[in-house]
Amino acid sequence: MANRHASQHAATASMAGKVCIVTGANSGVGLEAVRKLASGGAHIVMVCRDRVKAEKVREEIVAATPARIDIVLADFSDLDQVRTAAATLLRDYPRIDVLINSAGIHSTTRTITKAGFETAFCVNHLAPFLLTSLLLDRLRASSPARVIQVNSEGHRFSGFHLDDYNWERNRYTGLKGYGSSKTAQLLTTWEFADALAGSGVTINAMHPGDVRTNIGNNNGLLYRLFKRFFISPLMLKDPAISGEALYWLAAAPEMATVSGRFFHLTIDEKPAAHALDRAKGKEAWELSRKLAGL
Ligand SMILES: NC(=O)c1ccc[n+]([C@@H]2O[C@H](COP(=O)([O-])OP(=O)(O)OC[C@H]3O[C@@H](n4cnc5c(N)ncnc54)[C@H](OP(=O)(O)O)[C@@H]3O)[C@@H](O)[C@H]2O)c1
Repeated sequence: MANRHASQHAATASMAGKVCIVTGANSGVGLEAVRKLASGGAHIVMVCRDRVKAEKVREEIVAATPARIDIVLADFSDLDQVRTAAATLLRDYPRIDVLINSAGIHSTTRTITKAGFETAFCVNHLAPFLLTSLLLDRLRASSPARVIQVNSEGHRFSGFHLDDYNWERNRYTGLKGYGSSKTAQLLTTWEFADALAGSGVTINAMHPGDVRTNIGNNNGLLYRLFKRFFISPLMLKDPAISGEALYWLAAAPEMATVSGRFFHLTIDEKPAAHALDRAKGKEAWELSRKLAGL
């Protein structure tokens, strides 16, 4: 959190022709990444769960910027759909230069997916873990390539319960469920970085700023009123800053070999101690592989 007011880096490097996959690409942080990558000439693949929303965004962006934008559908609360999307991506894109995992939710109530996972854990961690794992060989073959995890300073709200990832024994709250899913992602990001060392593929996590997006709008009226009148106007910034930061992480030459780090927008920052426990990270890695059916 130390870097909340730091001045940020920006990149001017071209992304012309680079194939960039962005999840959660129709809204908020992901959408701003798409806008910025489109202006940098990238060939973008939007991974979204709703075709109508995705088409609307594609039309709006291509009307403003000549850009190649494709759409692949997947609901991240269903790992079978993530597998199908990965198969489509592997079939259609012989090279992948950048993968930005931005899809995410904050849910004030504990809900369970049809496969039996707590939903925030599945959408925020298991689904991007599976997608990244399934694309890893293609990323390696495309080297140099970059993976960016849109994580959160919210990881500080909770450690990850290896033995209670579905919140059956510990009391679930929206902030704890969210924090825990983001911690699980950080713990496994360091493992991905080790697995990719020397391959020319980097993986970093970032906090996209405290920005005005649709996050949390899936929650009840009370939460949405609280967000609208008390949180957003006072605290939240234009999400364009997230797009700028993601562009820097994806394009900046100085980031070509940096891996296994956490950035507050573009400033290198130390995560919470519970997200730096490498022994726990190895267990989280094995658990995530098992749960994702890898
Ligand atoms: N906003 C912030 O200040 C902030 C701060 C820290 C971290 N973040 C992180 O930034 C990322 C993006 O969030 P945002 O703030 O941009 O919120 P957002 O505007 O709500 O965007 C979230 C994106 O994720 C997608 N998504 C949600 N559930 C999904 C599912 N089951 N399957 C597939 N896609 C799904 C949404 O699709 P639909 O439009 O179809 O729902 C949307 O495209 C998240 O990982 C979030 O944790 C945001």
